[in-house]
Amino acid sequence: MSDTRCTDSLFINACRGIRGERVPVWFMRQAGRYLEEYRAVRKAHSMLDVIRTPELAAQVTLQPIDRFGFDAAIIFADILNPLIGMGIELDFVEGEGPVIGNPVRGLDDIRRLRVPDPTENTGYTLEAIRAVSTALAPRGVPLIGFSGAPLTLSAYLLEGGRVGNLERVKKLFLTEPAAWHELQEKLTALVSSYLIAQANAGAAALQLFDSWLGAIGPAQFDEFVAPYLKRIVEIVRASCDVPMIFFATGTAGLFGKYAELGFDVYGVDWRSSLPDAQRLIGERFPLQGNLDPLLLLGDRSNLDKNVRRILEESRVLKSHIFNLGHGILPPTPVDQVQRVLELVRGG
Ligand code: CP3
Repeated sequence: MSDTRCTDSLFINACRGIRGERVPVWFMRQAGRYLEEYRAVRKAHSMLDVIRTPELAAQVTLQPIDRFGFDAAIIFADILNPLIGMGIELDFVEGEGPVIGNPVRGLDDIRRLRVPDPTENTGYTLEAIRAVSTALAPRGVPLIGFSGAPLTLSAYLLEGGRVGNLERVKKLFLTEPAAWHELQEKLTALVSSYLIAQANAGAAALQLFDSWLGAIGPAQFDEFVAPYLKRIVEIVRASCDVPMIFFATGTAGLFGKYAELGFDVYGVDWRSSLPDAQRLIGERFPLQGNLDPLLLLGDRSNLDKNVRRILEESRVLKSHIFNLGHGILPPTPVDQVQRVLELVRGG
């Protein structure tokens, strides 16, 4: 059988702590509105249509690989679309972002949420993963599967779209902790089975996005968040052997707690330097990051200076996957992306 997981690629090796001849690079949200070929697809199809049509999802996943030659692809989906099968009305509204028509308001709503089987719920994404991983295998490019983490999914479920300062999340876990834990149990089951299904369909690595974790302090993290992250890692590891990446932003205050979560790789945003993050997270962990995406909107000399600085810092790390500190911004010029890749590849 051909190795559709590209286990000997620069990216997968870096995830395993093995440094290659250069640092691998991919960008969060690399398939998106900064690309004219993506905008052309979105002119004819809604966001959810693209996600739910395997041929379209596969097509846009491959766009940034074909254009730039990134060292990894990430399947086109969203952290929120798996929530539809739980009984949630989700839409992506132009200029607004995600909107949930029936947000979760209390224990009754939590009890009504279904935990669907991933093959029924997100079969279209699994089919897109099979198509993309097969297409990329001869090119040696691994495909990343992903999910939102329970806290971040809860933030959207409870707040209904605009997340803000996590008021409803904190209110729920402080005033109705049993309801919070019941919601986390359901999301943990959903996320673990979804990640396993993605790995079985051909994903070579799995990234968990906990985009709203930065609003949580260390004590609340220990009590209301960390147990579920640990459980997801345990469940996924028991049935598949692919590297697991954890990504959050604004979480330097939690770096000391990362090691116990059990992930293989930790994402770092631009608010910390990579060597500082390495010391705090632990010397044995590969790191991913951490260029400020805003630098891609600025002048070339600042971009060059900062990419070179990160590459210099990268030398003292266990291993490194070059990425942005958060998703690429829609106004990013493509020649700036090209420039980053040139520098990372040593050009
Ligand atoms: O290329 C890739 O990285 C894969 C695709 C991907 C998308 N969303 C597609 C998308 C990934 C990995 C995500 C993750 C995601 N989605 C996160 C976690 C990462 C992060 O940025 O913190 C979050 C919080 C979401 C929820 C979400 N989806 C928001 C808040 C928005 C609106 C903001 C925006 O950029 O418009 C989306 C929409 C979305 N998801 C777009 C894309 C390409 C833009 C939709 C469009 O084409 O109009």
